[in-house]
Amino acid sequence: MIIKIEAYIREEKMDDVLDALAKMNVHGITCYQVMGCGAQHGIKKYVRGNQNIPVNMLPKIKIEVVVSTEEWEDKVMECIRSSAFTGHHGDGKIFSYEVRNALRIRTGETGEQAVYSNSSLNPAPPKN
Ligand SMILES: Nc1ncnc2c1ncn2[C@@H]1O[C@H](COP(=O)(O)OP(=O)(O)OP(=O)(O)O)[C@@H](O)[C@H]1O
Ligand SMILES: [Mg+2]
Repeated sequence: MIIKIEAYIREEKMDDVLDALAKMNVHGITCYQVMGCGAQHGIKKYVRGNQNIPVNMLPKIKIEVVVSTEEWEDKVMECIRSSAFTGHHGDGKIFSYEVRNALRIRTGETGEQAVYSNSSLNPAPPKN
């Protein structure tokens, strides 16, 4: 099964989270600078000159990791949770989704094989 994990975390936690993922030999990460809000939004004020961004939208980091097993889904989610945690509102959220397919452009591999990276800690699923 191919699973995509999307995490929204504090900007200042990005290095800690990326280091923790690297220590687990997770390869294949995309991150973005984004604007977001959680449950505490609701103020109807807007940044002057920009009608589209409410002031309660805060800069956050979005991290995407695609893995090839449910075991790795759990490991990556726990790794992000523990390395992004402060215990305060705004620590962020992690979502996971099933992915229909993947394709490694260089080799033409598809499915789990396209996600799997050549590491003993992230082995390919058995071929049966
Ligand atoms: N339901 C959601 N959909 C999409 N993005 C979300 C959602 N909830 C949170 N986010 C993203 O996560 C960031 C951090 O959310 P936040 O941690 O404040 O969530 P929360 O539900 O308010 O929890 P807390 O009470 O701990 O603050 C948001 O700025 C946003 O980018
Ligand atoms: Mg919040």
